[in-house]
Amino acid sequence: MEYRKLGKWGAKVSALSLGTYLTVGFTSDAKTSKGLVKMALDAGINYFDTADAYNRGEAETALGKLVAGIERSDLFILTKVWAPMSDDVNDRGLSAKHIKESCDKSLKRLGMDYVDCYMCHRSDPDTPLEETILAMEDLIRAGKVIYWGVSEWSAPMMVRANELAKQLGARPIAVSQPRYNLLYRYPESLLFPITAQEGIGNVIFSPLAHGMLTGKYKPGEDAPDGTRAADDRQNLVIKQMYWNEENKKKGQELVEIARDFGVSPAELAIAWCLRNPNVSSVILGASRVAQLEENLKALELELTEDVLKRIEELYPQPEAIPQI
Ligand SMILES: NC(=O)c1ccc[n+]([C@@H]2O[C@H](COP(=O)([O-])OP(=O)(O)OC[C@H]3O[C@@H](n4cnc5c(N)ncnc54)[C@H](OP(=O)(O)O)[C@@H]3O)[C@@H](O)[C@H]2O)c1
Repeated sequence: MEYRKLGKWGAKVSALSLGTYLTVGFTSDAKTSKGLVKMALDAGINYFDTADAYNRGEAETALGKLVAGIERSDLFILTKVWAPMSDDVNDRGLSAKHIKESCDKSLKRLGMDYVDCYMCHRSDPDTPLEETILAMEDLIRAGKVIYWGVSEWSAPMMVRANELAKQLGARPIAVSQPRYNLLYRYPESLLFPITAQEGIGNVIFSPLAHGMLTGKYKPGEDAPDGTRAADDRQNLVIKQMYWNEENKKKGQELVEIARDFGVSPAELAIAWCLRNPNVSSVILGASRVAQLEENLKALELELTEDVLKRIEELYPQPEAIPQI
């Protein structure tokens, strides 16, 4: 395994990490979940990604049990707060009240005294930034959190938060978790220049665009049974963001590039994310142990100029969109 720094910060995370969204503690049965975590640990993965919202706490509970026997210092655990956890008006968002209460509940479910990174899952327009920053600082001072981070915040908002944190004498954002894959390249122009400037590390999610970049979804065909796109409990995002004939056709062209290079499209798509120097870790999603085994091979790939050129032609950088 290769380990990378989180931006300017001292802790190192495995360049490939394991996520638990829609899999561990949800669609993956106990045997598969155990197999996934074991394979990840055996491969040297130290960073495991979860969230309170993943199956309403079940992913945290399952992950906590699966890593219970591992030396705590050998793990880097990231969990998140923001999404509604019940109908209660305060059981959501980034208020100081919810951040404190949610952190305690996540720690209990994980069976841990602290998390390595506590992350705002999205932004909360109902809460002033300084309230969120100080709530994170309080958790850091209480020893419950080491670094804090944000997912899918705009770059200008991150800059504002870090300026405010400086004024308040509080810790700045250490980690950002953006969506980044061949079908969603916006971070290259909109985010990475700013995270580099701020010293923020990026741990990127959905490297396979929910499976759209594996070639298993064919033009003119419905999603095969047993896939994320075929399951109404899981397919909201893939259907909204990626599901169209053009992307399915491009997926088949990616299969050809991968075949010429002697690897699978999943390996190629993950290796493409890994090669970006702004990426500290690529968070793998896997529903089966065999998928994880395949995806881990991406670490060994050295992409040639020829392959990169063909990928660039197939998935060119999109035009930048304005940010607030
Ligand atoms: N911060 C956020 O808002 C946010 C959002 C999303 C995810 N995340 C984090 O990022 C992690 C990864 O995200 P993701 O699950 O969307 O990643 P992804 O890699 O884009 O999609 C993973 C899914 O693709 C399919 N797949 C994976 N490898 C495959 C292979 N080799 N061949 C064929 N199909 C394959 C599997 O689905 P099927 O086999 O079921 O089709 C798998 O569950 C999550 O677990 C979570 O920790 C964070």
